[in-house]
Amino acid sequence: MSYERLDRVPVVTIDGLSGTGKTSIASQIASELRWSVLYSGFLYRYLAFEKQNMRFAIDDNHQLNNALRQRLSNLSCRVNQNGDVIVLLENEDLSQFLATEDIGKEAAKLAGIQVIRDQLLSIQRSMAKAPGLIAEGRDMARVVFPGATLKVFLEADEEVRIQRRFNQLNRCGNNVKIDQVALMQTARDARDRQQAFRQLKQTPDELVIDTTNMSIQAVKNRVYQGLLEKEVVINI
Ligand code: DC
Repeated sequence: MSYERLDRVPVVTIDGLSGTGKTSIASQIASELRWSVLYSGFLYRYLAFEKQNMRFAIDDNHQLNNALRQRLSNLSCRVNQNGDVIVLLENEDLSQFLATEDIGKEAAKLAGIQVIRDQLLSIQRSMAKAPGLIAEGRDMARVVFPGATLKVFLEADEEVRIQRRFNQLNRCGNNVKIDQVALMQTARDARDRQQAFRQLKQTPDELVIDTTNMSIQAVKNRVYQGLLEKEVVINI
């Protein structure tokens, strides 16, 4: 697939709670369009990882130093054959460290600090490069890319989100039971509602898709249709 547009770099934002399908949809669309992809949650997770490793002392002003900004900008992501995101920093695979519940908890705390969010803005925006960017997270449409070409908001019932997380964890070799996942997911949702959920507000111009009973292909088709309605030329 290729894409042509002369005026500006097209950005598709995909926001929603965890388990709504953001990552799979973002990865597949980015790969089919050959666009870049920003998984913004990993920026918060990486900060949490640095903090856990005492590399990032949060001072009173919550300032990120230049070295840390550089590392955040240098994080690169790719998707493996199972559809899981692999996060690399200078060829070191950090995925297993970043995916843990502990890091998720710390990431949620850091994501609640406005000064930190503000400092991540320029890093996130600098990822919008031709031919295009798919940006997934919580505040992509409202805060980071308010001028995005297409804004997508994904929803899904809680049970389905739990089942998807369960499948993902087991695929990655974590031998967990579904009721454990349900407990973790409930805690995660509560945390997100306190912290990230504050970021997660729909904007009136968003394309809202309830993915509960939809295949990935059907969701992607809705997004492609949305792009065509915005007169973005995509060649599939
Ligand atoms: O999607 P995730 O679980 O990897 O995100 C980690 C944390 O960062 C989670 O608490 C939500 C938060 N987050 C956020 O506040 N804004 C974003 N754009 C992305 C993630």
